[in-house]
Amino acid sequence: MTIRTVATTPFTDQKPGTSGLRKAVPVFQQPHYLENFVQSIFDSLDGLLGQTLVVGGDGRYYNREAIQVILKMAAANDVGRILVGCNGIFSTPAASTVIRKYNALGGIILSASHNPGGPNGDFGIKYNVTNGGPAPEKITSAIFERTKTIREYKIFDTADINLDRPGSFKLGTMEVEVIDSVAPYVELMQTLFDFDKIKALLSSGNFRMCMDSLHAVTGPYAHALFEKHLGAPEGTVQNGTPLEDFGGGHPDPNLVYAHDLVEILFGENAPDLGAASDGDGDRNMILGRKFFVTPSDSLAVLTANAKLIPGYQDGLAGVARSMPTSAAVDRVAEKLGIDCYETPTGWKFFGNLLDAGKATLCGEESFGTGSNHIREKDGLWAVLFWLNILAVRGESVEAIVREHWKEYGRNYYSRHDYEEVKSEPANELMDRLRSMAGDMKGKQYGHYEVAYSDDFSYTDPVDGSVSQKQGIRIGFTDGSRIVFRLSGTGTKGATLRVYIESYEPDASQHDIDTQKALEPLIKLADEIAKIKEFTGRDKPTVIT
Ligand code: G1P
Ligand code: ZN
Repeated sequence: MTIRTVATTPFTDQKPGTSGLRKAVPVFQQPHYLENFVQSIFDSLDGLLGQTLVVGGDGRYYNREAIQVILKMAAANDVGRILVGCNGIFSTPAASTVIRKYNALGGIILSASHNPGGPNGDFGIKYNVTNGGPAPEKITSAIFERTKTIREYKIFDTADINLDRPGSFKLGTMEVEVIDSVAPYVELMQTLFDFDKIKALLSSGNFRMCMDSLHAVTGPYAHALFEKHLGAPEGTVQNGTPLEDFGGGHPDPNLVYAHDLVEILFGENAPDLGAASDGDGDRNMILGRKFFVTPSDSLAVLTANAKLIPGYQDGLAGVARSMPTSAAVDRVAEKLGIDCYETPTGWKFFGNLLDAGKATLCGEESFGTGSNHIREKDGLWAVLFWLNILAVRGESVEAIVREHWKEYGRNYYSRHDYEEVKSEPANELMDRLRSMAGDMKGKQYGHYEVAYSDDFSYTDPVDGSVSQKQGIRIGFTDGSRIVFRLSGTGTKGATLRVYIESYEPDASQHDIDTQKALEPLIKLADEIAKIKEFTGRDKPTVIT
């Protein structure tokens, strides 16, 4: 076994986005592409000598090959020990769990989250730091800078490691431990939730749930949690074997892509709870019988009911939501007398708040919810949280949400995505909005009057770092709001996201179809941003 130093030249497109570097698989398969990025990660970290790293991914195509490369490069870069998931599998929340449990220096997670997989699908790689969360911008910028100047990388010349079962190996002086990544995750969940109560509910014969893992990473975790530990009948978890191409599907738990589950929950004799999670297991969708819970509402309901859950019964330090997420949780926080933080899109901004004990629960409108138990959003955690609430309250999902609206009012909410539009006009659309945002206050559109508008900028209350240009917000005097931003995770062209929200305190008005309730604002969004004109599209590709 020898360490080989390989000469290379920089790639110009290795800037990490909202959640690491994501590209189509063929891009990653170019000679040196993965290696350059991995070496840039290693070069940006202070002192790898003897440190522990966690490595694994969501099982998508190229996961196994990439892991072998990373192991060999880690060994050549003086890493002391690598904990790698059996079969290369680590859900993002489980990786965060294990980084924290073993006090690792960090972890390399291979995933493109909800983007499709397979030979022509997407692949991704991101670095998480010691607290188990995504690397902050300071580190991702350092990695990007390094990718621009890299001239060589180091790799061990040696045979592949067998990842099929738990075991210990040596690569030079580096130890490789292949571990079962499900067990530590289940253990952590047992410290937070009342497993006995949930078990009583799931085995009562009066309650049925359906969990759709969408052929992605949560399958093994969901089987272990719901069927093995919590007594749900076999078959409760569907599509529970991770496949390299996610069965050809789009592993995104929303009404569009999790349609099989939606059909079951909106069909005859529907179960009481439906849940789905995404490619790498950090997102979740919650459905009741013939009822969809928006992620923004889910965060609000979890916050309002946290006192029923063992892990959170002593109260919440605060809550945080990303800027485009609806303000439903703000109302709960106000009532509880706790702080509510509004952060830019992306989980990395929650890390500091959680570390500083300023927030306990966090969430995003994009089907992500989590807490201070780890530093990533956590799909199965959210499902367990809902199950625990249902087990304590003995009411249906719909009844719980309706009661919530009655108490706090309803935030009608929807996101319209225009995927794969041309980058240039998409940027022009945003530039135009940005130039308008400064002086829209007081402007009247029909009966909507602009209360404020800006390009969202965030000053981290813990380290003072400033993140600018995080999306155009236009708020109206009646509490409704339109937000425009471009996706930072897409891999083809640009994706324009338009977030539309209105607030309805009157319970007699809580039964309107969401798109109908938001219709005037949806029209207004197009009028203000000239979406049709810039994108050439007359409707969004995905509505959630
Ligand atoms: C999207 C979501 C964002 C989430 C991220 C990673 O990012 O909108 O909330 O944190 O995926 O899962 P975007 O493509 O909008 O930049
Ligand atoms: Zn994800």
